Amino acid sequence: MTRKLLFVCLGNICRSPAAEGVFLHLLKQRGLSDQFVVDSAGTGGWHVGNPADRRMREAARRRGIDLPSRARQICLDDFASFDLVLTMDNDNLAAVKGLAQEAGPKAMALIRPMLSYSRRFQETEVPDPYYGGEAGFEHVLDLLEDACSNLLDELSPPE
Ligand code: 4NP
Repeated sequence: MTRKLLFVCLGNICRSPAAEGVFLHLLKQRGLSDQFVVDSAGTGGWHVGNPADRRMREAARRRGIDLPSRARQICLDDFASFDLVLTMDNDNLAAVKGLAQEAGPKAMALIRPMLSYSRRFQETEVPDPYYGGEAGFEHVLDLLEDACSNLLDELSPPE
């Protein structure tokens, strides 16, 4: 069975493309790439078509992680196509829940905060690094590596 995961933030150029890239990287490491479809999207549409923010891509690259995504805006069909929608902060969570209501009964996707899968950190939101310095991008990756690893353990328990 293929699991379909959608990571969501505001602009789809920092946090959710990083989550997508970290998750894809873990899938490759664990030999599970063929069991998942992974994508990311933004609740906003300002950056549609753009690659991930250069600072985010460089921070990920330093950890050996590629961020291949191009920004797109979440749409109502996503709630029927994906099994699980993972939001980065409380604003994204509220926006996504509103859209799921709009999508109606075909919206089967579960919606979960990304950091509900965190173990090493107490934070409940992935902070937006866009207007901050380099440390913010590193912290986003620290949070996402922890949460993505636990999420994958839950979806595909190690033998
Ligand atoms: P993201 O960060 O939601 O993690 O992609 C942002 C990037 C750009 C903007 C906001 C958030 N923006 O307003 O342009």
